[in-house]
Amino acid sequence: MERKEISKAVIGRLPRYYRYLGELIEEGVERISSNELSARMKVTASQIRQDLNNFGGFGQQGYGYNVKYLYSEISKILGIDQQHNVIIIGAGNLGQAIANYTNFERRGFVIKGMFDINPKLIGLVIRGIEIRSVDDLETFIKDNEIQIAALTIPKTKAPEIADRLVNAGIKAIWNFAHTDLVVPDDVVVENVHLSESLMRLSYRVCSMQDQGDGKGEKSSK
Ligand code: NAI
Repeated sequence: MERKEISKAVIGRLPRYYRYLGELIEEGVERISSNELSARMKVTASQIRQDLNNFGGFGQQGYGYNVKYLYSEISKILGIDQQHNVIIIGAGNLGQAIANYTNFERRGFVIKGMFDINPKLIGLVIRGIEIRSVDDLETFIKDNEIQIAALTIPKTKAPEIADRLVNAGIKAIWNFAHTDLVVPDDVVVENVHLSESLMRLSYRVCSMQDQGDGKGEKSSK
């Protein structure tokens, strides 16, 4: 499929479309109008039309969107119609939690190995995935065609490991360490910070409380 430049904002919204379309398929829905999808997703219908028009307008006037087709096209755009081999560096709490989650495989992300420096962890097997010494990192990456590395190690260790990953040919880092990594232009980094998400939640709940307080003041006057 021809890849045209799509804005980051649209790409950012595609996984959510993909999730909703997956649910529609499970419910046996074959086609859906932008208005119906809008009501479900709480996004305006015009936003949906604009977003999906980026990919050559899968929607037809008076017919709506063919759910399966749209689902499969979005999966191609996101590259999750292909298998991605993944490794996890840092087999502690977070690394093991990711390894234990089975649904990534359904999206084509296959966790091939885990790495750690702790001798107590090396040799353990989590859901069929062996924890290896980080000394074996480079060889393993080359032998197993690894594309993505998840970094679940302390932030002080992350830059050194990121350099090793880049030198070993890794093109994508899923970074959970709380530090911004410096990598060459041809390497992509996706930072995931659960605490930032929580802070946004905190902001929203506090502003709702403030609004509530405001109303309360008015009504008491
Ligand atoms: P943990 O201490 O349970 O696991 C860290 C693991 O990394 C340990 O097993 C340790 O032996 C290993 N490690 C340390 N240096 C290493 C190296 N050079 N190479 C390979 N392995 C190495 O910690 P936890 O709870 O799993 O958290 C891991 C990291 O992820 C921490 O830095 C934490 O701050 C961060 N974190 C980030 C979150 C996010 O949303 N971004 C959420 C939770 C944790």
